[in-house]
Amino acid sequence: MHARNFALPLVAVAALALAGCSSTATDDDAATDGAPTFITEGTLTVCTNPPYEPFEFEMDGEVVGLDISIVQEIADDLGVELATIITPFEGIQSGADLDSGNCDLVASGITITEEREGKMDFSDPYFDADQGLLVPAGSVLDSLEALEGLKIGVQAATTGETWATDNGLTPVQFEDLGLQIEALKAGQVDAIINDIAVLGPFVDDTLEVGTTFPTGEQYGFGVKTGNTALLDAVNATLARIQADGTYADIYLEFIGTAPAEG
Ligand code: ARG
Repeated sequence: MHARNFALPLVAVAALALAGCSSTATDDDAATDGAPTFITEGTLTVCTNPPYEPFEFEMDGEVVGLDISIVQEIADDLGVELATIITPFEGIQSGADLDSGNCDLVASGITITEEREGKMDFSDPYFDADQGLLVPAGSVLDSLEALEGLKIGVQAATTGETWATDNGLTPVQFEDLGLQIEALKAGQVDAIINDIAVLGPFVDDTLEVGTTFPTGEQYGFGVKTGNTALLDAVNATLARIQADGTYADIYLEFIGTAPAEG
């Protein structure tokens, strides 16, 4: 059935095109061609750790936020349902939730770090982050130096905790951002450190941002090490939503401004 020599390039192109739309081929082919498989069939199961507004937070009994809107786009592109599971950040960032089959993907404002890259595979970066300091309103705490000897609350297993210890502080650990905020309000700690973007929602008459610590972090979504089928799909959706304006819409909805260019 193959054409003569002069037609070969065309045939080759046609064969490649066919391979690209293997959904019409058998299911087995699709699997070996790298279509993602899921821990629950037909569902993209995502582990996340709210409260972490504007990335993941509960509203009317549902988890919403920038991360959740993006993973919804990923699920839509894959033609599957989205299910979110709320889990401690520790197991999310260590790869344990992925390795134990708790979820297909972790979406939790996770900073891509070298150490974590050894425990899971990260998508292309989708958000830039720095650390920030939240203090009681009217406080004079506005620098690292001012924190010496004070009680500083951090979220366990986060880059904020690492930053604090790397900079000579002996921070107090909290399981999540909500507990950090409660401790600050109750006066159990003098200040708290977490990603700057999540501190804004708590600024009011009683709390203010003391300062930003520039760390140049970038968030990525994580999949189990070696799950290239899902990783490729995640990156394809990230590229698609950057190109078609969906990312800018999501960013505006949850961050309140347009994303920086480039
Ligand atoms: N970006 C920081 C990290 O990766 C904090 C993330 C905490 N995320 C959350 N949803 N609680 O360590």
